[in-house]
Amino acid sequence: MKTNRREFIRKAGLATACVCTGLAGVNGCSMIGGISRTPGIMSDAWLLDGDSLVVDLNKADSLRETGGAGKLNIGDKVNGDETKVIIIHHQENDYKAFADCCTHGCRELNYLQDKQQLECSSFGKSAFELTGKVIKGPAEDPLMTYSLQKTDNRIIIKIT
Ligand code: FES
Repeated sequence: MKTNRREFIRKAGLATACVCTGLAGVNGCSMIGGISRTPGIMSDAWLLDGDSLVVDLNKADSLRETGGAGKLNIGDKVNGDETKVIIIHHQENDYKAFADCCTHGCRELNYLQDKQQLECSSFGKSAFELTGKVIKGPAEDPLMTYSLQKTDNRIIIKIT
């Protein structure tokens, strides 16, 4: 019997749901759903200077207050791979920067200020300390952290 277009789409959707459910059962992370709640940093608030990411804190609204966080995507200009960064204003004059990529399946991260930790945006939700260390899997490896310097109203992050 011939399958019409609508029937095909319905069956494809069911198959996708089954595959995703199966993945969640195997490794504890569905790899679907989950949207990052951490705000983006506007493109006029940062620039690349060689392998340094320079963020202007006068323009990065989400980083202004202690406890704030923001993220940005610098594309593939530094090392050839797409690089996303999440920056946290942890304490007064204390900022932290991480690759915005869960080490389980590279889903985006969220900063949870109340828990002082980073959490994967997937339904599996690996969690990490602000040192990058894994608190909860399925991720096994620590987050990639970037060294940074704060000067006046800028932070300079080494992307290597
Ligand atoms: S991508 Fe699977 S827990 Fe983060």
